[in-house]
Amino acid sequence: MTVNIGKDRFPEGFVWGSATASFQVEGAAWTDGRGESIWDRFCRTPGKVAAGHTGDIACDHYHLWKQDISLMKDLGMQAYRFSTAWPRVIPGGRGPVNKAGLDFYDRLVDGLLEAGIVPFTTLFHWDLPQALQDEGGWVNRNIVEAFGVYAEQVVKRLGDRVKHWMTHNEIPCFIGLGYGNGPHAPGLDVSRKDLNRAYHNAFLSHGLAVRIVREFARKDAEVGLVNNPLIPVPLAETPAHLDAARKAFIRIGANLNEPIFKGAYAPWWLEEQGADAPDIRDGDMEIISSPTDFLGINVYSGVFVEPSEDPAGYRVLPFPKGYPNLALPWLKPVPQALYWCCRYYREAYGIRKSYITEAGCACEDERDESGRIIDLARVQWLRDHVREAHRAVRDGLGLAGFFQWSLLDNFEWAEGYLKRFGMVYVDYGTQERIPKESAYLYKEIIRTGMIV
Ligand code: NOJ
Repeated sequence: MTVNIGKDRFPEGFVWGSATASFQVEGAAWTDGRGESIWDRFCRTPGKVAAGHTGDIACDHYHLWKQDISLMKDLGMQAYRFSTAWPRVIPGGRGPVNKAGLDFYDRLVDGLLEAGIVPFTTLFHWDLPQALQDEGGWVNRNIVEAFGVYAEQVVKRLGDRVKHWMTHNEIPCFIGLGYGNGPHAPGLDVSRKDLNRAYHNAFLSHGLAVRIVREFARKDAEVGLVNNPLIPVPLAETPAHLDAARKAFIRIGANLNEPIFKGAYAPWWLEEQGADAPDIRDGDMEIISSPTDFLGINVYSGVFVEPSEDPAGYRVLPFPKGYPNLALPWLKPVPQALYWCCRYYREAYGIRKSYITEAGCACEDERDESGRIIDLARVQWLRDHVREAHRAVRDGLGLAGFFQWSLLDNFEWAEGYLKRFGMVYVDYGTQERIPKESAYLYKEIIRTGMIV
């Protein structure tokens, strides 16, 4: 007897896929005219990336893309989210376009479509051309125009075939962790004023890219931002806790959500920033809040919240010692975060359609004597998260798809290759790909459209 037939079925058309990003998988860092990115430089700055790893070879996806498409096909993948590398397309950040770089993405898109896999393209997943960083990077407003030129090149080249576009991936990471004394490239610690400038420029360039997709991609194209909100989860699902968690969601994410989805920075937030508030020019807020078609949400964890007598109305609870976590300290499994972020975005910002553009976990994956990778922690993680995705669908929250991070083990930023997020194991010595046990479970979930 099959246990789950007819129950927990995902609707026809729900999109199942996996995601990667250019710097993390492509390799071929100095091939066919690609320019230097801030991550190439950062990897060569002593002490910044674990074990001195670089993106030079990564998963060699630049050369092995055909094989990787076959792998996706074998695993039943319906869609593939990848990013285009700015330094491959415009090596100097601004100036001449590198035809060979665009040709690569052209081949990739054609290959995907031939295999019946829908391409979802992200324009910026952190690999900023170093030449632009030398001018101040995201802190310098001139970057907005340069990003527009780059985005236009990509959209004009691929936009006849690519229907699904994402502007930026995780602005809080590439700005906050890159310029705010965090562990990411370019590894700066700028003033609060400059940090706010950098966010504002990233928001502007997002809005500009939305307009570029509208203008140059196929008429039925859809475009959105990918965000990674901190997700407050009600400790108990009672009205008082839900209310507290919603308040926390709005307050914690205000600096990004209010300008992008409401067209204005929150007055209390501006007041808090004082003289450090971003300089807003005429027309900025209209560009920043250009209407989008969907929101991409990356979900890795959440925080528990309870009601409080404080003026804020909520309290974020610390994780106690012994709360489980996967292979990184911040990877605390909170599967219901997936459901709640869809719900808050819908309730607080009227987001009608969303995709989980990333959800994943790093585990201590090892091949056993028979060569299998029995990643039971990821199996459990996957089932728990897909269940929450189903709950979001069932409650009519507009969730349209789920992309697992990542197709392959890959370059995990400051962790180098030491942390493995793939559904497929990569032997970096030989570039052999070996699907982990969880990949077979995912395949079966996709095939049946159910939580099996
Ligand atoms: C989100 C980022 O988009 C991705 O690049 C990264 O590898 C995963 N988080 C895991 O940390």
